[in-house]
Amino acid sequence: MAAPGRAGLDVGCGLGTEVAWLTALGLQAIGIDISEVACARAQLLHPEALFLYADVRRLPFADGVFDLALDRGCFHYLKPSDRARYASEVGRVLRPGGRLLLRASLRRAGRRNDLDEPELRRTFAAWRVRGLGAELIPSDTRSMEVLVARLERP
Ligand SMILES: C[S@@+](CC[C@H](N)C(=O)[O-])C[C@H]1O[C@@H](n2cnc3c(N)ncnc32)[C@H](O)[C@@H]1O
Repeated sequence: MAAPGRAGLDVGCGLGTEVAWLTALGLQAIGIDISEVACARAQLLHPEALFLYADVRRLPFADGVFDLALDRGCFHYLKPSDRARYASEVGRVLRPGGRLLLRASLRRAGRRNDLDEPELRRTFAAWRVRGLGAELIPSDTRSMEVLVARLERP
């Protein structure tokens, strides 16, 4: 059970399933997405939850306001040159000790991308790495290779 009163951010929230779940569990949750269409659709699907059209590279939040952040599939969309900016922005809005659960695909448009454990460690060098590893998510039709990082903002 999530702790009520905590504040959570879903980075690249898409249609907002996770934000709606966190909200239902009593967290003050908000999802941001660079797609206006995704935000509008998420808001229609989950009127009880909060969504904001925003870019993770320029988060419109004060420092340290979130206890936790989620990223299911946003980080790997960024250009490599934007990754450091991502780490500093998400780190800025998390409180000290705040956690980020990041799941990044190792493929883009069917092809292996450049993400690997050393690249994530470099990007989040200022963070504590609580867990990091590749996982294969199987399904009937295909398997998805992802990197899962459990990170703590010092
Ligand atoms: C693969 S989708 C994942 C959506 C959702 N997290 C899920 O698991 O269903 C990636 C999302 O990241 C968003 N995104 C990509 N770049 C972004 C950025 N710079 N700032 C915020 N969102 C971004 C996309 O618009 C898209 O909705």
